[in-house]
Order: sequence, then structure tokens, then C-alpha cells
Amino acid sequence: MSKTMRHHWLLLGACGWVLLILMFASKFINFRAADDYGERTGGQSWTEPGTKVPSVVPSVADWQSVVEKRIELLSAVCKNNTLRNLTHVSISKFVLDRIFVCDKHKILFCQTPKVGNTQWKKVLIVLNGAFSTVEEIPENLVHDHEKNGLPRLSSLTPQEITERLSTYFKFFIVRDPFERLISAFKDKFVKNPRFEPWYKHDIAPAIIRKYRKSHRDSEHAGSGLRFEDFIRYLGDAEGRRRMDRQFGEHIIHWVTYAELCAPCEIHYSVVGHHETLEQDAPHILKAAGIDQLVSYPAIPPGITRYNRTKVEHYFSGISKRDVRRLYARYQGDFHLFGYPSPNFLLN
Ligand SMILES: *[C@@H]1O[C@H](CO)[C@@H](O)[C@H](O)[C@H]1NC(C)=O
Ligand SMILES: *[C@@H]1O[C@H](CO)[C@@H](O)[C@H](O)[C@H]1NC(C)=O
Ligand SMILES: *[C@@H]1O[C@H](CO)[C@@H](O)[C@H](O)[C@H]1NC(C)=O
Repeated sequence: MSKTMRHHWLLLGACGWVLLILMFASKFINFRAADDYGERTGGQSWTEPGTKVPSVVPSVADWQSVVEKRIELLSAVCKNNTLRNLTHVSISKFVLDRIFVCDKHKILFCQTPKVGNTQWKKVLIVLNGAFSTVEEIPENLVHDHEKNGLPRLSSLTPQEITERLSTYFKFFIVRDPFERLISAFKDKFVKNPRFEPWYKHDIAPAIIRKYRKSHRDSEHAGSGLRFEDFIRYLGDAEGRRRMDRQFGEHIIHWVTYAELCAPCEIHYSVVGHHETLEQDAPHILKAAGIDQLVSYPAIPPGITRYNRTKVEHYFSGISKRDVRRLYARYQGDFHLFGYPSPNFLLN
């Protein structure tokens, strides 16, 4: 073999290795990004006081009008009496438990799962001053509201609550209601989080017992909750009431946004959309007056996009009757937040 030939072969081999490593790395990065984005995540830092990530975002003035239109729609739908049962809830302890207080910057944040909320909570914990950077917050403390310096609104006196509700900047984030339910189903019943055994061991069997059509199926060992069972449970407004009381706080992953945050009773300043988080996140930071103190990292591309194929896939085995029942239950959220009703599933 000539010297140049050998050289070429070596070069080719090296390129192959680099390509292999890159492929592996990109797989790993994508995987991490997708995973990190969910709840209870550690590695990725969302904020780093002082360091701003430059980003291409429509000017805040433009986005301001988008946000204002959302609030106008919200208050119009709140006035619609046909939807009243689905849009109006009382400001109960359950709702006050969902809302976190940042007194230092006069911010209230209503937590709605599966839209990157852990990241917002970390931002507020840092802003409240208990920790100086997001990285310093131990993972097990993010959700421990006794110790993380981010109190719930329910821990305050009625007078303190009223005062904050009427004067603070208030926000929460929503996403397409059906895609949200798919996300909750996958996260709590399919991936079966080791840290949260109650979904598999308590909640799933209770739903299967009541809602699985063929009970011969449910006797099959290891047959977990199916999306079909979950949807039938969710659509049964009356029947699930007693079960939901037993399930306790865990229902936050699937009860309506209206039930979580009482958006017709509490006059929120901004309702962000997960689908436009790239625009909403900086807008919220600015509107809350904290954009100079914290910033957010680039959101992994595509991760917040609505995926109709996925929705169609999950609902393909669900009967029209069950889909309509589900929609009847969740249409308040569709209307309140301007999501188009999923006619491709209903008709
Ligand atoms: C109220 O909501 C219902 C159900 O979506 C809709 O058909 C009706 O047009 C709405 N009414 C008004 C005044 O917007
Ligand atoms: C609204 O709620 C009331 C009282 O719970 C109930 O009687 C009524 O049937 C509900 N209406 C609709 C449209 O669901
Ligand atoms: C949408 O979901 C489908 C089915 O789950 C998946 O194969 C596809 O990659 C997703 N598309 C995007 C753009 O994420």
C-alpha cells in the first residue's frame, strides 16, 4: 500500500469515527433535551441571573397585542352562560394551593403541569432569595414549599390573599387541552415514574376497575392503564367525582385549567401558551419586571409545537362517543384559551 493510500484510509477511518460519535452525541442530546424539558428535571438551567441568552423573538410590542387579545377572549368566554359550569369555579383551597407567591417582586404564578413549570418555579425561588442561582436549588427542594422559600397562596391569611390577588402580576401557562391529557397519560401511566408509584399502584387499578369495558382484559397480568380507560374516566364528569376526591392532589395532572387556576375569578395579567413559549417566556419576564434579573435558555426546537399526528394517533382507537364526552368536559378550556375545537376527532 502506498503511503498516500494509507493516509486516505486512515483519514476515512477517522471521519467514520467522528461521524459515529456525532450521531451518538446528537441522539443523546436530543434525548436529554426532550426529557429535561419535562417536570422534575435537574441538569438544564433555565435561568442564570445576569447572563442573557440572545434570542430572536418578535418585538414585545407585537406580542403585547397577542397577549391582550387572549385576555379579551378569556373574559368574553367567562361571560358565556352556556359554558358557565365549565369555566367558573370558586377560589377554593385547591386553587390557592396551585398558586405560588413571590412577594419580593409581587408575582403570583399558578402551576399547571406539563408545560415546563418546574423551570418557572425555580426562577421564582431564586427571585425570592432563598437561593442565589437555579443550580443551587437541590432537586428535592423544588417541590418542597415548606423549605424552598416559595410559599403557596393558601398559606397566607384571607386578607393577605385578597391583597395579593388584586395587586400582583399573575400568570400561568396552558397548552392544547387534548395534547396535555396525552402528555399526562404518558408521563404518569406509561413511563411509570419510579418516584411516583401511586399512579400505577393506586390510581390506574381504580380507573380500570370502573371504566374498562371487558373485565376479562383487566385480569391479564401487567395490563396497565390504557388511553381508552383514561379517556372514559376523564369524560365521566359525575361518576369520577368520588374517585377524584380519593386521588387527592394527583388530579392536578388532568383536571381542567379552569379548575386549577380559576381564570374567570382571578384576573390574570398574562396567560402564556406552551406552543408559543419562545415568545411568551421573555414577554412574561418583561411584563413581570424581572427580565433584567433572570433569563431563560433557548427552548429545544420543536418541543413545544402542537403535534396533530400524535393526537390523531392516540385518539384513533377511541370511540366517537367517548371523544365527544371528553370534549364536553374540556371544551371550557378550549374556548377560554382560544384553542380550536378538535373537529377532526369529533366528526
Ligand atoms: C357560548 O358558547 C357556546 C358553546 O361553545 C357557543 O355555541 C355560543 O355561540 C357562545 N355564545 C356566545 C355569546 O359567544
Ligand atoms: C350545570 O351545573 C348544574 C348544577 O351542578 C347542573 O344542574 C346543570 O345540569 C349543569 N349544566 C350543564 C350545561 O352542564
Ligand atoms: C409527531 O408525533 C408523531 C407520532 O407520535 C411522531 O412520529 C412525530 O415525530 C412527531 N412530529 C414532530 C414534529 O415532533
